[in-house]
Amino acid sequence: MSQGSGEHQLKYMFYPKSVAVIGASRKPGKIGHEILRNLIEYGYPGKIYPVNPSADEILGLKCYKSVLEIPDEVDLAVISVPAKFVPEVLEQCGKKGVKAVAVISAGFGEIGNVDLERKIVEIARKYNMRLLGPNIFGLVYTPSKLNASFGPRDVLPGNIAFISQSGALGIALMGWTILEEIGLSAVVSVGNKADIEDADLLEFFGKDEHTKVILIYMEGVKDGRKFMKVAREVSKRKPIVVIKAGRSERGAKAAASHTGSLAGSDRVYDAAFKQCGVLRANNFEEAFDWARALAILPPPSGENVVIITNGGGAGVLATDACEAYGLKLLEMPKDLEDKFRKYMPAFGSPHNPIDLTGQASEEQYKGALLEALNEPRIHSIILLYCQTIITDPEALADAIIEAYTQAKVKKPIVVNFVGGVECDRAMRKMEKAGIPTYPTPERAVSALAALHRWARYAGYIKQT
Ligand code: COA
Repeated sequence: MSQGSGEHQLKYMFYPKSVAVIGASRKPGKIGHEILRNLIEYGYPGKIYPVNPSADEILGLKCYKSVLEIPDEVDLAVISVPAKFVPEVLEQCGKKGVKAVAVISAGFGEIGNVDLERKIVEIARKYNMRLLGPNIFGLVYTPSKLNASFGPRDVLPGNIAFISQSGALGIALMGWTILEEIGLSAVVSVGNKADIEDADLLEFFGKDEHTKVILIYMEGVKDGRKFMKVAREVSKRKPIVVIKAGRSERGAKAAASHTGSLAGSDRVYDAAFKQCGVLRANNFEEAFDWARALAILPPPSGENVVIITNGGGAGVLATDACEAYGLKLLEMPKDLEDKFRKYMPAFGSPHNPIDLTGQASEEQYKGALLEALNEPRIHSIILLYCQTIITDPEALADAIIEAYTQAKVKKPIVVNFVGGVECDRAMRKMEKAGIPTYPTPERAVSALAALHRWARYAGYIKQT
């Protein structure tokens, strides 16, 4: 059957009116039980139907012997029964008219059971159901309050959609985003990508109003051409960040045996990503650093960057990083130097980096920042602060937030505070106010550089 309505069917996966958990175990700690618990406790407002032939009730919900017995339509079925029972369960889902299925069960292509995997795809196609997985930890979509996974429960809402081909790493990163207070619109475990693959999800999230950035952990793509075609279009509207594992030859072999992906030559991937505007990150720290900036900052309208700092050393490190990551530091015109001189002592430097010196006060920072924000020849700002006894980090954070909200024009700014716990608190405050912050100058620069690369690709920065 045609998969032409595939994108439409995906809506049922993320906006289901009802969810069945097939293989909802009675025993706490078992996967089917924990998925059901996550669905209930994360606050999914639709109907939840546990399915288990040996139970009458689980976690206070009436249980059904089979999906066919449910007296209502079922949009999404999460399947957590041993692999050999999956075809039969899928047939029942098809007959029931289920629209989308997420197959948690492992034991398919990844261990050589390709025929079984092919069979479940055939059944899904026969009934026009979209199939996520198999071999996945589930999915989360925060706008629908849907946590149909056996990962951590309290995923924070936000606008980064995170797609993971790795199960354990995906689950771990879900927990890590909670710790780091990074908000997500979605977490999708794609596993073996037997039916739904990255390109389908790119199409969906490319149009999803709740998603601003799409972040993919990938070991390989099944259909490279399709991925590139979709990525090229989506990248013009929304940034796509990819962590493509298996850079080394041995890593590529490990990826092949992990999810059964054809890893392909790394250089081919590199070139393909560049061509279609995909931002390739080296590791997950970098990927989330970039995604946080891409999710909240406006795109720059030009290349000119300034660094504002109270520490010469931090300024030099940031300058080196700008060189390394391809950011252009503005050659400061004389009239601008004079403007910035107002916010520093005589021994400060109004060149770029603008060094307000170690005795810089919050007012001086605020003045210099407002000057930069309102100056049309400056397109992006890197603001650095090394903790001193002169300036209280939290008061400085307030001053920065004030300047950012008062500025007439919205432009990208990344912030790095270096110091103790007070700096950490101050950075979290700024982050909440929509200003991305980083623990080192290099990470701040790297995030801004990713935003510039994307802005070039998407045409916000005109190429000369
Ligand atoms: N329909 C509905 N429920 C069924 C069923 C059917 N056809 N057949 C069995 N069940 C019930 C069982 O009775 C059991 O409930 P109970 O614990 O109350 O008795 C429940 O479904 C689960 O079945 P069980 O046979 O106990 O399997 P399990 O929970 O040990 O394992 C999987 C099921 C899917 C979790 C397991 O096979 C698996 O694949 N694990 C790996 C998952 C994984 O790693 N995924 C990738 C992560 S990234």
